[in-house]
Amino acid sequence: MKLLVTGGAGFIGSNFILYWMKNYPQDRIVNLDNLTYAGNLENLKEVEKNPNYKFIHGNICNLNIVGEAMRGIDTVVHFAAESHVDRSILKPSDFIVTNVVGTQVLLDSALKHKVKRFHHISTDEVYGSLKLNDQSKFNERTNYNPNSPYSASKAGSDHLVKAYSETYGLPITITNCSNNFGPYQFPEKFIPLAITNILEDKKVPVYGDGLYVRDWLYVIDHCRAIDLVLNKGKVGETYLVGGMTDDISNLEVVKKILKIMGKPESFVEHVKDRLGHDRRYAVNWSKIEKELGWKPLHDFDEWLEKTIAWYKENEKWWKDVKSGDYKKYYQEQYGKL
Ligand code: NAD
Ligand code: TYD
Repeated sequence: MKLLVTGGAGFIGSNFILYWMKNYPQDRIVNLDNLTYAGNLENLKEVEKNPNYKFIHGNICNLNIVGEAMRGIDTVVHFAAESHVDRSILKPSDFIVTNVVGTQVLLDSALKHKVKRFHHISTDEVYGSLKLNDQSKFNERTNYNPNSPYSASKAGSDHLVKAYSETYGLPITITNCSNNFGPYQFPEKFIPLAITNILEDKKVPVYGDGLYVRDWLYVIDHCRAIDLVLNKGKVGETYLVGGMTDDISNLEVVKKILKIMGKPESFVEHVKDRLGHDRRYAVNWSKIEKELGWKPLHDFDEWLEKTIAWYKENEKWWKDVKSGDYKKYYQEQYGKL
């Protein structure tokens, strides 16, 4: 395969490139990324000199750059996005431009270059919020009901991808996955924020009552799911991908992290809640299990511990990231904390 990976310098994209080059060393990868605050080429040091890997510094909204990147490509794996809900609340416009317009530019170019597959990475957040203490889970037939500017922009991108399949016959697949965790995650997201704050001896901000529920998926399980969908998935289909957690609250997640790191629960600091905060996400991943034989293999507790170990071992990586602009964002979001 010759793959165009967009957003390959971000958290999941870089894990995916490392995973793919290990498992399919004969394949070629072009990584198109414009290196926003979330993009970091340090994540890809291991492959940067590999002749089968090429980096293009550019914006997915730029038709010329996208056209260049798309030449000779048979498979597009589209990760590039503005991905942080809190930033979408502070500044929604960036999310519409990258997530909606950028996706449409890529779709047009993929059509023009007759790619064999356009795989779109999306989120369970497009389905909105579930009630607490309820058995319900999202599945592929759940109605879209996004609540944040982030999830609304991702919903818009999903609809465009499906429209290009129906209208123009573009061979697409979509995965909507739950919250990922693992190495190289930008420390503005909940788990790496908690780990790195504790390493700095700082408190962990927990929004509202902390009884919000997310489904946690280890990033390599996500990469395995994309691999299967690319190789065996049915064109035109959507697959939901989830992790090995059963309804675990944010507060329970922090308590686990504190226990592993040997710190007291007084490190928890309840702060002002997020606007429009979705109460609960849960994912029914039985379709991808039945049709493609996928299931998550990485146990949450075990891989949370390994993720903590990774951040401990890679202090320079996150210290570099947490300097500069990060401080400005942190101050705006959390004040003095
Ligand atoms: P991230 O924020 O860590 O990385 C995004 C990457 O996209 C960065 O490298 C950034 O530089 C790049 N990018 C942003 N705008 C761009 C543009 N206009 N042109 C080119 N590159 C651009 O995100 P992530 O957590 O790795 O998420 C990747 C994808 O997975 C996103 O589409 C996100 O919506 C989806 N997703 C993420 C999660 C999660 O838990 N992280 C869960 C479900 C779905
Ligand atoms: P996050 O990692 O931003 O992912 P998402 O909002 O896409 O699910 O947040 C995960 C959960 O953690 C979510 O319920 C919000 C909560 N949260 C906090 O309580 N404090 C924080 O500082 C952050 C960033 C998130």
